Amino acid sequence: MFNLKDDSKTSRRGMIKTLGLGLTFATLPSFMSSAMTEVSIDALDHGERIIPVKENELIEMQKFIEDCITANKESNPQEAVKEVLAKGVSNPSAMLKAIGEPTEAGLKVFLRSKNLTIFAASWTPQMNLMPHNHHMWANIGIYTGREDNIIWERSKDKLEANDVRCLFAGDVATLNINAIHSVTNPLQRFTGGLHIYGGDFFATERSQWNAETLNEEPSNGDVIRNIFKKANEQMIRMKND
Ligand SMILES: [Fe+2]
Repeated sequence: MFNLKDDSKTSRRGMIKTLGLGLTFATLPSFMSSAMTEVSIDALDHGERIIPVKENELIEMQKFIEDCITANKESNPQEAVKEVLAKGVSNPSAMLKAIGEPTEAGLKVFLRSKNLTIFAASWTPQMNLMPHNHHMWANIGIYTGREDNIIWERSKDKLEANDVRCLFAGDVATLNINAIHSVTNPLQRFTGGLHIYGGDFFATERSQWNAETLNEEPSNGDVIRNIFKKANEQMIRMKND
């Protein structure tokens, strides 16, 4: 593991470039650069498709991110961050404007640190993600579209669907540290949600479950990357039909 605290500015720039922020270290808001110093440089590409964050989007989101960082220091971080998230998506159109209209499946990473990850996830029409876990608490807040979550539970040696949560714009859901969920966008248009995790999402080994057999597999970056890639290709095909 490589700690940015101990390395040169070149590596910091490399980190930022890899996250696709398109900013030099000098132009990052102070809250962002201080959070970055806690980030390890390994596992930069965990398989998810990263969409570059534009400078104006980062600035628009600055207050929200700062509030999440502050809330995450409280005695019940998940609940405190949930309150910030609920307030943030209570005006979904304002949040959508700040983050930007989704145009492809992928993740816009606004913060990555050891204790907190914040990204906007966009799902193409009718996109699905297989059951997976996070090994850390997670809060999801929808700012456009709809995200249907199936909550799964381990039962003996297999997985069973246990609960369903249909999230519309303005809704917030919490997932505990052991949660397993699968995600569907049932709409014919994009869904966008803020996903906040109580740890470094990208540096954590996770599990995923085959959607048909429900066999558990290590979280595989190639598989997830392919899901995003196929979702984007399918969207282009639908547009051209
Ligand atoms: Fe998830």
